[in-house]
Amino acid sequence: MHPSTDLNPAARAGLAVVLGGTGGIGAALVAGLLAQGFEVLALGRRTQPALDYSHENTVQTCAQHVADRLAHTGLPLQRLIVATGFLHGNTAGGHRAEPERSWQHLNADALQHNFLINAIGPALVMRHFLPLLPKQGPCVAAFLSARVGSIGDNALGGWYAYRASKAALNQLVHTGAIELARRNKEALCVVLHPGTVETALSQPFAKTGLQVRPAVEAASDLLAVIDSLPVGSSGRFFDHKGLAIPW
Ligand SMILES: NC(=O)c1ccc[n+]([C@@H]2O[C@H](COP(=O)([O-])OP(=O)(O)OC[C@H]3O[C@@H](n4cnc5c(N)ncnc54)[C@H](OP(=O)(O)O)[C@@H]3O)[C@@H](O)[C@H]2O)c1
Repeated sequence: MHPSTDLNPAARAGLAVVLGGTGGIGAALVAGLLAQGFEVLALGRRTQPALDYSHENTVQTCAQHVADRLAHTGLPLQRLIVATGFLHGNTAGGHRAEPERSWQHLNADALQHNFLINAIGPALVMRHFLPLLPKQGPCVAAFLSARVGSIGDNALGGWYAYRASKAALNQLVHTGAIELARRNKEALCVVLHPGTVETALSQPFAKTGLQVRPAVEAASDLLAVIDSLPVGSSGRFFDHKGLAIPW
């Protein structure tokens, strides 16, 4: 690997923004970034301002909040981490959604909500937040996806809506990375899989014998991957060990 973004601690005079910074992995990322010396802004549905993909205007409001902070502090936005996501729970349409075990369980409401939170929300984040990255110098935008979003790696089937919405996210981020490179050749935009992590999102599935890791460990791995992304890695999909995942 050829580290391109490994800033020494003294050089971390920048702002890090974690969207979904109030979630399981997001909160651990916030703590990890603070320990690395970044000034950190965490945004979620319960922060002020609030970020809620069910209300499109909140994405722009949050981006303006970050822009104001950048202008006020004079700091560059060196890390943008999108740690939002949805696998199960209540949808914006007011129904319960669970990962589908069969095509018989497919329904429009669950599909729409998975796409809203896992793909459309992050796409709007790209629109409003990627322009806030510096026009020169190293910086990273990282979007948390999931290995199950890989089409090439899908041997088990099931989880249609989550898989498909994460595959859509992967394509959106890959496309955004191409455009970002035209603004700043040193800016990296990647998709990351955190591993199976002990959070509310994975909790109902832990009993199936999956090996789950604490969020603190996952965040530490992800930040290490971000710090040592190789040159030419923009637009690619990596796991928490820094290994490439097929699309
Ligand atoms: N945990 C795992 O094993 C695992 C495995 C593979 C991939 N991932 C991915 O890792 C990321 C983080 O997941 P996690 O495990 O930390 O899950 P989590 O604890 O459930 O956190 C999910 C985050 O998504 C946010 N979110 C949900 N609905 C939203 C909405 N309508 N608008 C804006 N934000 C919304 C939540 O915001 P609030 O804090 O405001 O509720 C929360 O911050 C997700 O992309 C997930 O798909 C996780």
